[in-house]
Amino acid sequence: MEDMEKIVALAKRRGFIYPGSEIYGGLGGTWDYGPMGALLKKNIKDIWWKDMIQLRDDIVGVDAAILMNPKVWEASGHLEAFTDPLVECRIDHERIRADHQDEIEEHVKDHHPDKNDWTEPRKFNLLVKTYLGIIEGKQQEVYLRGEITQGVHVNFKNVVDSTRVKIPFGIAQIGKAFRNEITPGNFTFRSREFEQMEVQYYVKPDEKESMEIYESWKKNRMDWYLGLGIKEENLRFKDHSPEERAFYAKAATDIQYKFPWGWDEVMGIHHRSDWDLRRHQEYSNQKMTYRNPVTGEEYIPWDIETSAGVDRSLLMFFADAYSEGEKGVVLKLHPKLAPYKAAVFPLLANKLDLIEKAKKLYLSLKNGFMVAWDERGNIGKRYASQDEIGTPYCITIDFQTLEDNTVTVRNRDNASQERIPLESVKTYIIKKVESN
Ligand code: GAP
Repeated sequence: MEDMEKIVALAKRRGFIYPGSEIYGGLGGTWDYGPMGALLKKNIKDIWWKDMIQLRDDIVGVDAAILMNPKVWEASGHLEAFTDPLVECRIDHERIRADHQDEIEEHVKDHHPDKNDWTEPRKFNLLVKTYLGIIEGKQQEVYLRGEITQGVHVNFKNVVDSTRVKIPFGIAQIGKAFRNEITPGNFTFRSREFEQMEVQYYVKPDEKESMEIYESWKKNRMDWYLGLGIKEENLRFKDHSPEERAFYAKAATDIQYKFPWGWDEVMGIHHRSDWDLRRHQEYSNQKMTYRNPVTGEEYIPWDIETSAGVDRSLLMFFADAYSEGEKGVVLKLHPKLAPYKAAVFPLLANKLDLIEKAKKLYLSLKNGFMVAWDERGNIGKRYASQDEIGTPYCITIDFQTLEDNTVTVRNRDNASQERIPLESVKTYIIKKVESN
């Protein structure tokens, strides 16, 4: 947990993550991403979107509304079953999740060690309620979506009818979800407002074939995290036993990461059978079937879902990249994830020739990717500052540049330096970032 404190401090100090509405004392379970955090988050989402939609022919993307007809949540089962068991302390009315025994014990120890009196567990719905309309008393009660999933399922027919998708195919989405978490905590890990990246992959209702697709998604998602640099020993699958999973699910697993507080979930991969589409068919009276254009066979497809938290993935990338070297913190983010791909330094801030040359390079690089500029202090301090935010390459324009048009490129991970022609800097960086 000491590591966690360092991570939280770095995140705040370097503009990755701040407590939500901090100047008013914050709001539990909400976080604001600063300039570096917003870039890192965007990079995660962009890479995911590219891998899922741009590079594949079998997945299309949607962007559905956060506010949905409340019937959606009846059909999906969230109104009835999206609950956590909660116990209430009879002494000071603190509410804690019944399955969080350590928190219950800690509460007693900290507040009234000689008294321990709790209610029986009660169900507490996690959906966040709000109201639409302006006339008091006539407002419509709606919910902020508790998962982004249902916005995909309710558009299943629209997508089939308006595009050329053929089963098996997926619908991908990235977006915000809201949950009235009883005990938000572990930094951004359990928040009340967070983002998800999901694919609902619709397949033929066939036991063997669907299980093969489920297994291939497990591998695909694990490889994705490994490919973005997460250390293999820090990732594992945690399969759900039949007792742990929903009655309609045919298989389910979590990808877990070894966070400073222990193994915890960053993504769920679920074989959800035809549960969601069948329920929407029942509640909306609209057909949710797919018709094979060749064989004429008609069925409600089964759904293999992969659901990752953007914020949790970001926290994992951040924690995994955190390292302490001789000269301070180095955030060894995969170059594709790094907020800035490069930083440009004129050796001295008061030499016009150097500044001019460096500015020209800076502006030309900026057109292709995010670049930082720094002319303060000595070069060592500038390197250290970029290391802390994970910039993989630092380029220095010095007196030799004025003579032979070469620059020094310094590598974040091993502090090695090489001299390359000024005109090849842009392709050098692009190649390095892409090939990593
Ligand atoms: N549609 C399936 C679904 O929502 P989930 O396991 O409840 O499944 C999927 O959530 C992912 O969303 C989790 O693996 C996690 O990464 C993220 N997530 C869930 N609740 C979260 C919370 N309170 N704060 C941050 N991320 C959360």
